[in-house]
Amino acid sequence: YRCQLGRLWISFSLLILLLVILQVVEKLQGLLPSWTEVLTVEKAALGEGQHVDGISSQETMCKPKTDIVFLKVHKSASSTVMNILFRFGEMHNLTFAFPLKGGSQLFYPRHFLARFVQGFSPGNAPQFNILCHHMRFLQPEVQRVVPSTAIYFSILRNPVQLMESSFAYYKGTSAFSRVHSLEEFLSQPYHFYNPAASDSHYARNLMTFDFGFNPDGDVSPKRVHLMLKAIEASFDLLLISEYFDESMVLLKEILCWDLDSVVSFPLNSRDSSTRSPLSDSMVEKIKNWNRLDWEIYTHFNKTFWERIDRDIGRERMQREVRALQERQADLARICLQGRGSVAPKEIKDSSLLPLQYGNAKILGYNLKQDLDKKTEHMCRRLVTPELQYSHALYKKQFLQKFPQTHKTFNAPFLDAL
Ligand SMILES: *[C@@H]1O[C@H](CO)[C@@H](O)[C@H](O)[C@H]1NC(C)=O
Ligand SMILES: *[C@@H]1O[C@H](CO)[C@@H](O)[C@H](O)[C@H]1NC(C)=O
Repeated sequence: YRCQLGRLWISFSLLILLLVILQVVEKLQGLLPSWTEVLTVEKAALGEGQHVDGISSQETMCKPKTDIVFLKVHKSASSTVMNILFRFGEMHNLTFAFPLKGGSQLFYPRHFLARFVQGFSPGNAPQFNILCHHMRFLQPEVQRVVPSTAIYFSILRNPVQLMESSFAYYKGTSAFSRVHSLEEFLSQPYHFYNPAASDSHYARNLMTFDFGFNPDGDVSPKRVHLMLKAIEASFDLLLISEYFDESMVLLKEILCWDLDSVVSFPLNSRDSSTRSPLSDSMVEKIKNWNRLDWEIYTHFNKTFWERIDRDIGRERMQREVRALQERQADLARICLQGRGSVAPKEIKDSSLLPLQYGNAKILGYNLKQDLDKKTEHMCRRLVTPELQYSHALYKKQFLQKFPQTHKTFNAPFLDAL
């Protein structure tokens, strides 16, 4: 009997000892930086091979994601994101869901249908890696095109700046063509805006529209809530163009890509001649007029920062953003003539001239001359405007699939790229 008591006692003491050890280990872990941080700091301190700066532990453990749906919301830095997807897809031989016949949009502003995609065949399993051209989102149709494990993301912009930009760019559309200024339009919008017009979405709640919802719908809390829930259910990640660098860091984390894959130069941005400062009352008017967009933006701006706090932390985010900016500055020094973007009339190489549209002057870049072949190849991709790049990739994709047509194929952009 005494023997049994003794055994119990020993077991009990062992248990206590174990608990104490566990607690000590936990305390120690709190004091020490985690392994991921050690890794990051070491890599940054090494200073060489900048492309590995800010590598995260995640990258070493996870597999880069290659199935992606990007909803390219209009006027929200989405052309720059598209360039990033083009470069990654090209480098990894991924297939793109191109619009039929290599068009630039997926029959926007119609809701997306799988049959708008070149090479889609209804009998087959979803077979494309990346869907990123302009579309009006409709998930059941998107799911017929990309595998179910794809990451869905988009990028949002403050609706106030978005509308100001949309006004300059889409000045020719029915709602804007009869006014001289955005102020005039907002002073009596219903005088100029006809919800039934086929191009009315450029003038109101453009993001809401691109996500597939009715831009003229009512703004009751219940409806707004349903819309936000629906977007959350479809999308893994909503980025914010006002925090573009932070967005790219978050994107590379979620996609398990390296830093170099998300470095970019701003594309499709306009010069300041058509930008006008907005008064406070104008800002309020724009917010009210685009109430649904405003609700989407403020909600996902909030979740964006919550996500950063949860997954990365502000401190590491700052480090990663710095690494990204340094890498971008390096690339600008290596690739570009002058300091950065230039006006369209100063672009010497016509294959680098962005499409000019509306009242806005869309800026572009000049590459340095006498770059070696490999560097020129890399630099050219960073600054090729989306239409040219899309065109080249389209030809490449269908040229590789049908090599027998090689001889009859004329791909000047491909040679240039
Ligand atoms: C992509 O395809 C090219 C040509 O077919 C090949 O040389 C290259 O290794 C491929 N790259 C990847 C990452 O699969
Ligand atoms: C977006 O979030 C940031 C960080 O919380 C905040 O400072 C900013 O005011 C927000 N923007 C809007 C328009 O709500």
